[in-house]
Amino acid sequence: MTQQIGDWNELTEWWTAEAQEPAYGEEVIPLFFEVLGEVGGRTLLDLGCGDGRISGLAADRGAKVIGVDLNLDLARRASRGHPVFLNRLPGLACVRDRAVDGAYAVLTLEHFEDSPRFFAETARVVRPGGPLALVINHPVYTAPESGPVLDPTDGELFWRFGDYLNTGRTRDPAGGHTVEFIHRPIGALLTEAASAGWLLEEVREQGVGARSAARDPILAKHGGIPHLMALRWRRGHTAGGRCSIRGLEAEAAPAEEGLLKQNRTAAEHPVDRISGILDGAFEGEVDEYIEEIRGR
Ligand SMILES: C[S@@+](CC[C@H](N)C(=O)[O-])C[C@H]1O[C@@H](n2cnc3c(N)ncnc32)[C@H](O)[C@@H]1O
Repeated sequence: MTQQIGDWNELTEWWTAEAQEPAYGEEVIPLFFEVLGEVGGRTLLDLGCGDGRISGLAADRGAKVIGVDLNLDLARRASRGHPVFLNRLPGLACVRDRAVDGAYAVLTLEHFEDSPRFFAETARVVRPGGPLALVINHPVYTAPESGPVLDPTDGELFWRFGDYLNTGRTRDPAGGHTVEFIHRPIGALLTEAASAGWLLEEVREQGVGARSAARDPILAKHGGIPHLMALRWRRGHTAGGRCSIRGLEAEAAPAEEGLLKQNRTAAEHPVDRISGILDGAFEGEVDEYIEEIRGR
């Protein structure tokens, strides 16, 4: 079953609690910033920004962050720290071509439909030479029917791959609701990104952290099983159909006209482009608009 837009508005409390788990601070955040690299002075899109905790940390490192999310509650929280667009990803229809210096998505790609469109849209809005950084749940971990298998005879833990090789969906309980993860094999993801003009620079795969293993005897048995994956690409430019990184820095200039294509309100946008800067003056209209989307 396809996740409806309203579903994430029911997952606010679940995600807020998840992000307070020690592993998020100990494992996800450090991995992300190691892969993202230097951000000082750069304008970055945080795709699926949630309550803005990653955006805040990126801003502490000197980035100018603009959040994008469809969860109204989380977006409101994030908007206390930086501008936020209400927008259903992977579409970024309201953002100008080459408008930003880079983009990132932390633990969100698994929730977006249409990953080829995600890579194409980010490639369109990030200027040549700019980065795209992702942290995802490792695809070995997200495959439908994958999971740990404990050998009762000696307590050894094995990993069942499940349906790793195909794209699929898993649904997990999430605080009285259900959260859906879209599984994509690594080969599919890398090919989609390359087709959109993203040049791969770094991939990191990470297992259970030492502190998580010390807290949980089952996780301690996971040994070399990957849990997280982080990737960084750089936007190439295409010349004669071939993707190249030569001369990119010379092209590195964000659009001067600003980020948005047009200064429209959310209510004026077509239904597939829920967009608008979230600020105090805007909230009523956004609420009405979200209700309209839910009712479709
Ligand atoms: C697991 S949370 C991660 C939040 C944030 N990146 C962090 O690490 O704290 C996933 C986020 O993606 C957002 N999200 C899910 N599907 C989305 C979509 N199609 N468009 C925009 N945001 C989406 C959710 O509202 C939620 O804030």
